[in-house]
Amino acid sequence: MSRNVLIAPSILSADFMQLGDAVRLVTDAGADFIHVDVMDGHFVPNLTIGPPVIKALKRVTAVPLDVHLMISNAEASVGWYLDAGADMVTVHVEACNHLHRVIQTIHQAGARAGVSLNPGTPVESLRAIIRDLDLVLVMSVNPGFGGQAFIPESTDRIRAISRMIDETGSAARIAVDGGIDTVTAPLVTAAGATMLIAGSAVFCADDPAAAVGAIRSSAQTRVV
Ligand code: DX5
Ligand code: ZN
Repeated sequence: MSRNVLIAPSILSADFMQLGDAVRLVTDAGADFIHVDVMDGHFVPNLTIGPPVIKALKRVTAVPLDVHLMISNAEASVGWYLDAGADMVTVHVEACNHLHRVIQTIHQAGARAGVSLNPGTPVESLRAIIRDLDLVLVMSVNPGFGGQAFIPESTDRIRAISRMIDETGSAARIAVDGGIDTVTAPLVTAAGATMLIAGSAVFCADDPAAAVGAIRSSAQTRVV
């Protein structure tokens, strides 16, 4: 299946005091989603934001919010993020005892559902639920912080998930999160990813709007 590559800037690396402006800048530049990293200081060693900020973001943009829950026991609080206006919610396979149930809850609320895998988690853990997913989010760094180096083995993992999607007839899209820039974007799209999440490569750039365009063009570069 050939699909356009979607770009989702991660606001983790934006200036939180100017969040509205940061979001407007990248959505005017054509960002397809705004990626919102929710961290609980438990599943990952960092704390970020929660439902009130998602609600506030919803008021400043019509671009869909892609909410990445890096939290333990996501099934207990996923409803808060859905109520706050998340358009897509991604939970971690490592953090859910009842993964199938949480995916159903997300769909019942009318949102799209994603599942993410840490770099050390076997891709086979997805097989039982992959047909229920809208998104598989491959972590190409260990979650918790922006600005980390891309883990090169991630491309083999993307290829394996891509094969699993073909074998199972799943309609899931593959997203990649961590260390994505104009160098790594073409590597992951060549492996089968069609959604690129980028934090520091966008918001630490001198011109974040230009960075969105540059990542998009690099992703379309053929890799041999
Ligand atoms: C990391 C987060 C990412 C982060 C990526 O745990 O899930 O979304 O913002 O940042 P970069 O693009 O700087 O690696
Ligand atoms: Zn993320």
